[in-house]
Amino acid sequence: MKINFEGEERKFKSVWFENNTVMLIEQRSLPEKLEFFRAKNSDDIAYAIKHMVVRGAPAIGVTAAFGLALARKNGENMEEAVEKIRSTRPTAFDLFKAIEFMKQNGFELNAAERYSQEVSGRCKKIGEYGNSLIADGSKILTHCNAGALAVVDWGTALAPMRVAKESGKTIFVFVDETRPRLQGAKLTAWELGQEGIEHVIIADNAAGYFMKKGDVNLAIVGADRICANGDFANKIGTYEKAVLAKENGIPFYVAAPGTTFDFSLKSGEQIPIEERDEDEVLVVNNKKIGPETSRARNPAFDVTPNKYVTGYITEYGIFRSDQLGDLQRKVQSDLFMRTEPLTK
Ligand code: MRU
Repeated sequence: MKINFEGEERKFKSVWFENNTVMLIEQRSLPEKLEFFRAKNSDDIAYAIKHMVVRGAPAIGVTAAFGLALARKNGENMEEAVEKIRSTRPTAFDLFKAIEFMKQNGFELNAAERYSQEVSGRCKKIGEYGNSLIADGSKILTHCNAGALAVVDWGTALAPMRVAKESGKTIFVFVDETRPRLQGAKLTAWELGQEGIEHVIIADNAAGYFMKKGDVNLAIVGADRICANGDFANKIGTYEKAVLAKENGIPFYVAAPGTTFDFSLKSGEQIPIEERDEDEVLVVNNKKIGPETSRARNPAFDVTPNKYVTGYITEYGIFRSDQLGDLQRKVQSDLFMRTEPLTK
């Protein structure tokens, strides 16, 4: 991704490995400051994932892959390292996919590098396929952050927008702020700004207003886990955006690489949903916003049924929910996705 760093345009990944350290963009400091988090062992990696230094399904997977390679290099107890990292966040399937991949490849650093390159390359393809859905002048709504920060590079939902912009199309993006952690307002808006893509931040509850007025003609979101039937988990609030899109006749697409598809789950009720600390809802700018005695609920994700999805944008092409059997066959015959040990 392009970032203006100390007055110069530079290219960055959100996660990489350097000098026996897993380097992460410290996403909690954005957009105010571009800072880096240096993970030196599996405890640091588990902390970074759990406390959302790094977040977004594919980026969590890549961080886990590098973290396990680091733990092995450090001579850590690998069973403990795996368990620590596995138990950080329950919803994003990429975490479990990456752990499996690393296990099958002896926790080697070159396997983690390969995993990272695959994820990034696959998201670039998502961008190319998704670009075919974007007409010049499109007004696109997105929720949360499914950009380069949430992957390694390119993004999932944001990849088609990057490619559209690079191919000379004019687009405009409505960015849901995404309460309670504001990934839209803080991260997506920052990424779009760095890429020079025109956008506005809207309150989460304003999406219906703009859709009904005819101001939005396409919605693209990312996913944390997609089931065999196409039901998918994504950031809390995605479900209501999907329902609103259908009600207003707006095409609603989900963009995700094969690593986010969990074909072992038949439907969305089987997806484990993370519930986070109530203070993420109750405390704003270090100040409690409700009465002292009020409690909060804070599910981090919701599940959108397949009937609201126009199509799934993947590295294999774009599929409707009734075509997911074809996608499953493609994923199953893809050597990387079968997480087979590397031969070279
Ligand atoms: O809680 P987060 O910030 O990890 O949630 C992220 C999302 O819901 C993203 O939309 C999803 O992981 C797709 S990222 C390419």
